Amino acid sequence: MRDLAGKAAFVTGGASGIGFALGRRLAEAGMKVMLADIEVDALNAAVESLRDVGQEVRGVTCDVTDPVSVEMAAKASYDAFGNIHVVCNNAGVGGGSGIDDISLENWRWVLDVNLMGVLHGIRTFLPHIRAHGEGGHIVNTASMAGLNSGMGFSAYSASKFAVVNMSEGLAARIKPLGIGVTVLCPGFVRTRITESGRNRPARYGPSQKPDPASSAGTLVAQIAELVRSGLDPDDVAAQVLTAIRENELYVFTHHDADWRGELEARFAGILAAMDKAAARHAETLS
Ligand SMILES: NC(=O)c1ccc[n+]([C@@H]2O[C@H](COP(=O)([O-])OP(=O)(O)OC[C@H]3O[C@@H](n4cnc5c(N)ncnc54)[C@H](O)[C@@H]3O)[C@@H](O)[C@H]2O)c1
Repeated sequence: MRDLAGKAAFVTGGASGIGFALGRRLAEAGMKVMLADIEVDALNAAVESLRDVGQEVRGVTCDVTDPVSVEMAAKASYDAFGNIHVVCNNAGVGGGSGIDDISLENWRWVLDVNLMGVLHGIRTFLPHIRAHGEGGHIVNTASMAGLNSGMGFSAYSASKFAVVNMSEGLAARIKPLGIGVTVLCPGFVRTRITESGRNRPARYGPSQKPDPASSAGTLVAQIAELVRSGLDPDDVAAQVLTAIRENELYVFTHHDADWRGELEARFAGILAAMDKAAARHAETLS
């Protein structure tokens, strides 16, 4: 979508971090923006701070784990702005790693927000964008954790692998309809992701912190440090705006040799296993 000015956008997780930066960049590009978030005070503060930016920025309370809540937030957006063109399914939470204490509540919470939340956004807005026929773009926030297994046995990585796959499949299907898809795959970004427990609904049980001395605890501490020294969310948002305008599927905000090396190692392992399988098959035929 080259021409954003005068159109409207909906951004989940818009009260903080990458979602807030996306909201600001979209507003600066002349879009009307609805920020949707579960954290009401932060949402109100976010909307207030963007009051003088661009056209119009509003907020709506929304829990992306609940399809009805997403539908109601969509209705509020149509009532406020008319047609919506850009949808950023960005809300996400970290948590749920390790093999020592495999908590179903942790896994359910992370998958409900990071995976089902994205699905609820697509399911709600895609029919609307198709029906108005003015074109559109869907941005799904995944992660580099959606492309390699460096985080180990992790609900977070599992959710992000799914978001990458959903986005690739969706892009192929809706390109002919004039609707673009971008999957955002950042490395570490300076946000409040390591404080995700602040928004954990009671139905998923209390937040569980791993023993700092365990391998899961060490990983959590390492990730917190990497997030603290991570990329500015505004840099990430700027790259997403370019991807929307250029209709690019992937946004890789971190592309140095280390990140690239992890991907190459994964792909090389998969291809080597296929070669081995092919060689075994050839042996059985001979
Ligand atoms: N920060 C990083 O290093 C990093 C790296 C890769 C991907 N990401 C992804 O970026 C996205 C944004 O996270 P962030 O880093 O800006 O963190 P953040 O905690 O600063 O922002 C996340 C936002 O999502 C909201 N949220 C949480 N649960 C919700 C729910 N059920 N319904 C609606 N909103 C909800 C939070 O209130 C918060 O405003 C996430 O999908 C995250 O997985 C972050």
